[in-house]
Amino acid sequence: MRIGIFDSGMGGLSVLHEAYHLLSDQEYIFYADTEHVPYGLKSEEEIKGYVDEIVRFLIGKGVDAIVIACNTATSVAASYVRKKYDLPILGMEPAVKPAVENTSEESRILVMATPVTLREEKLASLLSRVDNLHRVDLLEMPMLVTFAEREEFDSDEVKEYITKQFSPYDISKYSALVLGCTHFNYFKPLYREILGDSIELVDGNYGTVRHLGDVMGIDIKNDANSKIIFNTPQDIVVTHNTTYYESGYEITDNNRLSKYLRMLNRLELMRNF
Ligand code: DGL
Repeated sequence: MRIGIFDSGMGGLSVLHEAYHLLSDQEYIFYADTEHVPYGLKSEEEIKGYVDEIVRFLIGKGVDAIVIACNTATSVAASYVRKKYDLPILGMEPAVKPAVENTSEESRILVMATPVTLREEKLASLLSRVDNLHRVDLLEMPMLVTFAEREEFDSDEVKEYITKQFSPYDISKYSALVLGCTHFNYFKPLYREILGDSIELVDGNYGTVRHLGDVMGIDIKNDANSKIIFNTPQDIVVTHNTTYYESGYEITDNNRLSKYLRMLNRLELMRNF
């Protein structure tokens, strides 16, 4: 099957990367809307317009299903495009449910996302369903999107930003940190360095790809121990049959593809962090 996966930028690669592990025999079109990143600071109308255009573009490329690998775009525009187009369109939401279910009732949970995701009705409705004990606190981290796009993962500036954002919280009370934005996956070593080892880092990538497998009737592979490391820019195109687009333009030159290679290899290192 041909699967379209998109995000405002590089965050969505974390879903593509998980799909390489679990649904490795499919064909992929990855679309990063780099002209409009970050979505998390845009208006609803703008985001709906971008998402609509991307969905139409991917349908034009003959995809069988689309994954919105972006919590922000999902919260604003998933139901809008689902009504409009007749193919499976899967979204992402912060993985609050598994975090609530897998941690002790006495502990707290910190959900990080973009300002848009945090203020949308979709998250409020999720919390009203799963956070009965009011254990969840919300933290916006918009700058991490910009840092990730710049491949700036451990500069002093990033460290200071993350440390400052966490500083109002007594981290010893928290058992889980939910990464409610796909761009946040790249910073796992810093969360560990700043928050310590006892907090669980929870992302929605596995759940999203497993759901994709269910919806499309494709069995997922259980590959807990396999490693996917790419060596050349062309590897990321050929090995898993993937075409990469940035805001409508296909990425073919090795320089540009090298960025994707570095990001995908970083995600491999982050996978079981
Ligand atoms: N990666 C996106 C998400 O999961 C949003 C990043 C952005 O602000 O563009 O929410």
